[in-house]
Amino acid sequence: MSKFVIQGPQELAGEIAVAGAKNAALAAIPAAFLCGGITTLTNVPRIRDVETMLEIVQKLGANVKKDGHTVTIDPSSTVSHHITPELSGKARSSIMLVGPLLLAFGEVTIGHPGGCIIGRRPIDQFLEGFRALGVKVEDTDEGYKFSASNLKGATYFFPFVSVTATETLMMTAARIAGVTILKNAACEPEVKDLAQYLNRCGAKIEGAGTNTIYIEGVNKLSAGKWEMIPDRLETGMFAVLSAATRSRLRVTNCNPEHVESLLTIFDRMGINYAKGNDWILIEPSKKAYKSPGKVITHEYPGFATDLQPPLTVLLTQAEGLTLVHETIFEGRLFYVDLLNRMGASIILCDPHRALVQGPTNLRGKKIESPDIRAGIAMVIAGLIASGETTLDNIYQIERGYENLDARLAALGAKIERVS
Ligand code: EPU
Repeated sequence: MSKFVIQGPQELAGEIAVAGAKNAALAAIPAAFLCGGITTLTNVPRIRDVETMLEIVQKLGANVKKDGHTVTIDPSSTVSHHITPELSGKARSSIMLVGPLLLAFGEVTIGHPGGCIIGRRPIDQFLEGFRALGVKVEDTDEGYKFSASNLKGATYFFPFVSVTATETLMMTAARIAGVTILKNAACEPEVKDLAQYLNRCGAKIEGAGTNTIYIEGVNKLSAGKWEMIPDRLETGMFAVLSAATRSRLRVTNCNPEHVESLLTIFDRMGINYAKGNDWILIEPSKKAYKSPGKVITHEYPGFATDLQPPLTVLLTQAEGLTLVHETIFEGRLFYVDLLNRMGASIILCDPHRALVQGPTNLRGKKIESPDIRAGIAMVIAGLIASGETTLDNIYQIERGYENLDARLAALGAKIERVS
């Protein structure tokens, strides 16, 4: 198994270009099955989660070609609509294939979807939403069976805001006769982007990016070419990395609007930055950062749960006490034990709340990466800690960040990937 060996503390400098969005690509791949013809996706990040999703669709028979950051998908050779537990267990986003395959084959079976261990990951809203659209859903020994008995547009109110459930029902309804209204829908940029792509293919979707989405089903979509939006979670991570290491970094190829909630926290902490249409320049001063008092994760446009672990590392460097309230996932704060082992002073009050007392000096340690976002947080911690940090299980980090060690090394980081 590979690990990162990091020497800190290290001041970085330079410019870093943000990759295409993982979560936009994970939605665009299933959407290819809705459209007749060959889909071309560009600016696709070459990361493990995307590779896994492509491997799943290839195993179903689709023809996939990869050329750098361009991926073409020809679903016409798809022969299987059975997503085995072995395949579905590799990625939670495999559930997003159900709607498109159902429209193509009339029936789909899938094992229970896997994914990050960051809390319960139920799929009840997918099941309820599909039932509302007239899909027959049955529990099986291995997972679920979906049959297209009487598909029709419907109104569905999401009891909780869910990004991938919104994307799944939106893309499925785009090809179901009648009008579907999705209420309390997720407003994340990836949802809006998916709707814009499907509309380009001939769908009739309005309101994506707000919490009510109107979809008038059409019976045909034509495949096209679509560029992945910049990854807002990578954008925010690099901004945090820059502030935490007190480095002047220019983050390019990004959309600053997508990380407005993070920049508002920077304002409260006294972190200097400038921004343009597609860049953010972090210019940390020598002055101590102030605690923002309280940070609460929230659905977009609120502060993203995926940026919570990196931000918590930064909070260990701010003066005062900060309450971090993780409202989305109940398993996304346990990594604070690892930060405490490195010298942080964090009290885990309950699975949803942690109190961070700063500033603290972090020391390098041998640790393991628990999941994608906690893993990247540990990389940032390693870069500000004194001494050597050895980070094991970097498979988790490579699920979401492309070529991380080389990109960080180009900024001056002392990070080595050891097999
Ligand atoms: N939920 C339910 N029932 C459902 C679906 C969700 O109760 O059927 C609950 C979840 O348990 C959670 C909340 O709703 O408490 C939100 O989960 P959501 O469904 O929005 O998460 P997701 O769609 O599975 C996406 C991203 C995650 C990101 C979350 C929240 C993708 C592929 N994944 O997951 O990204 O954390 O939204 O923004 O888009 C990551 O990139 O590291 C990652 C985990």
